Amino acid sequence: MLSEVLLVSAPGKVILHGEHAVVHGKVALAVALNLRTFLRLQPHSNGKVCLNLPNIGVKQAWDVAGLQLQDTSFLEQGDTTAPTAEQVEKLKEVAGIPQDGTKPEGLAVLAFLYLYLSICRKQRALPSLDITVWSQLPTGAGLGSSAAYSTCMAAALLTACEEIPNPQKDGVSASRWALEDLELINKWAFQGERMIHGNPSGVDNAVSTWGGALRFQQGKISSLERPLALKILLTNTKVPRSTKTLVANVRSRLLKFPEIVTPLLTSINAISLECERTLGEMAAAPAPEHYLVLEELIDMNQHHLNALGVGHASLDQLCRVTMAHGLHSKLTGAGGGGCGITLLRPDKDSEAQRDEVMSPRPASSSPGPASIWARQVSGAAFPVGCSPEEVVLMSADACHFPSPAKSQLSDRATTGGTVSA
Ligand code: MEV
Repeated sequence: MLSEVLLVSAPGKVILHGEHAVVHGKVALAVALNLRTFLRLQPHSNGKVCLNLPNIGVKQAWDVAGLQLQDTSFLEQGDTTAPTAEQVEKLKEVAGIPQDGTKPEGLAVLAFLYLYLSICRKQRALPSLDITVWSQLPTGAGLGSSAAYSTCMAAALLTACEEIPNPQKDGVSASRWALEDLELINKWAFQGERMIHGNPSGVDNAVSTWGGALRFQQGKISSLERPLALKILLTNTKVPRSTKTLVANVRSRLLKFPEIVTPLLTSINAISLECERTLGEMAAAPAPEHYLVLEELIDMNQHHLNALGVGHASLDQLCRVTMAHGLHSKLTGAGGGGCGITLLRPDKDSEAQRDEVMSPRPASSSPGPASIWARQVSGAAFPVGCSPEEVVLMSADACHFPSPAKSQLSDRATTGGTVSA
């Protein structure tokens, strides 16, 4: 067991195309965001394991001896299979979480305990740890906050328990794990995601682990050629929703109307493939026609997602308002609210485009879509950049590492501000 403090950081994500279809084996295209989650793990000898999640108001501690006495043999199967419903119920008992607890706070605690007990179980005794996680990502908005959490947690616990080497190099502010270590991190992060979402595809934790721009299908990950200049405006409708429920609703619709929903999923797959092909062409020789293709693909996918039942009035409004400015938008992630993405024109300054979309119309003019927009999601849009960086281990003196006390970043992420690419 390592004795030093570990600082880990992992990115959130934006899905370009393929959300929901990816749960049914289709292709998804996703990029890592330059909004990240940070975790600090401090080993102790005080007989306690403490979890502190300032973003969502969780501060909980358990006696290690008490956890050690619990029968956690049901976790034996570890990393190979999904936790069963009975195992989840048992773990809730161990964690003291209400059986019907589906709140993000309870689910985050559950995922932590699952990863802690499973990964640290090979140690002679369960370790005393103090873990704090904070994030620049809004929770439950479709930007992969739970995946970034699970990825940081898996990376930190695996490193602390010496299941993977500590990659820290002197004088380097962010050190990277080797590929085989990232694979193990990703595998465990997926188990954490399963605790939170039930039956996720694994795309979110893959992006959080590997960073960059990825094509994902049934656990197979490859990197995507991406024109560097692709600019996306991210808008948080601030309408809360549950990924688990939305994924379950799509499954029900598929079972109820297989002849109707199967072609929708097939078509979303074709949209992802066409987008991938277009991005490849753009990387080689970008032309204005490529943007027209990307815009059409966005419109078609948004209609399909509406037909799957994962749209929301706030997202329709986003599409209408941005369309009034000649821009094309779709939901990203599970939908039902959460965030939407808008493809910005490459030839105009992105902040100017954001301001144009956001600005209310003059009082004298008839109330147009922009004024409705400004009232409903005031200040909630900002241009985002893609982060090429995967999950990393940061040096303790990394000066840009935010402290929990200074972490108003999650507010900034949901109320506006520019994030550098
Ligand atoms: C959530 O970010 C994306 C979904 O496709 C669910 C998943 O892939 O697990 C809706």
